[in-house]
Amino acid sequence: MSEQLSSNPAPDPAPDPTPDPAPGPVLTLEGVHLQLSSDAGPVQILRGIDLTVKAGETVGVVGPSGSGKTSLLMVIAGLEKVTGGRITAAGMEISGLDEDSLARFRRDHVGIVFQNFHLVPTMSALENVALPLEFAGPGAGGEDAFGRARTELEAVGLGHRLGHYPGQLSGGEQQRVALARAFVTGPRILLADEPTGSLDQATGDGIIDLLFQLQVRVGTTLILVTHAPELASRCTRIVRLADGRIVDNKGGPDEG
Ligand SMILES: Nc1ncnc2c1ncn2[C@@H]1O[C@H](COP(=O)(O)OP(=O)(O)OP(=O)(O)O)[C@@H](O)[C@H]1O
Ligand SMILES: [Mg+2]
Repeated sequence: MSEQLSSNPAPDPAPDPTPDPAPGPVLTLEGVHLQLSSDAGPVQILRGIDLTVKAGETVGVVGPSGSGKTSLLMVIAGLEKVTGGRITAAGMEISGLDEDSLARFRRDHVGIVFQNFHLVPTMSALENVALPLEFAGPGAGGEDAFGRARTELEAVGLGHRLGHYPGQLSGGEQQRVALARAFVTGPRILLADEPTGSLDQATGDGIIDLLFQLQVRVGTTLILVTHAPELASRCTRIVRLADGRIVDNKGGPDEG
């Protein structure tokens, strides 16, 4: 169904992007709460999120500023620990994992794209994209990290910018590098937080086209946070948040 990454040489035992024959949920959130503390006392950020996402689905997450969209991505990535409920992702209950296990979970299964690119400024485009493969280490695809990073950068149209540092790249080019870095490991779950929010319309449209191309090629599940209704509508379903709750979940297996 989905093509293998051309940057995936044969001996690579890294994540197999081929979806299961009968794809089950790759992500399940049950009664997820997130409470953080602020100067004014505890704040309820997420207030009972139930969400089931099947392998290969694309989910657009929308809602007003402050409704909890970024926080939702953070708990799915295990970057914030839930204060209630359960999250199962890529077959693991991540709400119970310690920091080391969470780091391994992210390394092996999750790609993240941020609004402001978050590239390492002292590393070239090639080094930025090779980084997650090097973390994966020998035997997990890290042997030919630079070769694979180069192939991935060529796939996003940046084969001529391998040695450029982030400061020497345009915003759109930096986001292409960030996409290459997020997809190079063939993640099962790709989290994108307003990936076009810092770009002009035309550049942003190009990034979204690329994001969906990579999503199809890798067969990854995509959770895309966006303020732009036309971007959300390119997803197979839309989840709307308000005040830390899901208020609309069109087309989902769990809610109507
Ligand atoms: N570290 C924190 N401590 C306390 N409150 C926080 C923290 N991070 C976020 N919040 C609060 O949580 C709520 C949800 O924030 P979040 O960033 O998830 O919203 P969002 O939907 O992504 O908004 P935007 O569209 O503006 O990016 C906000 O009210 C915010 O002020
Ligand atoms: Mg946000």
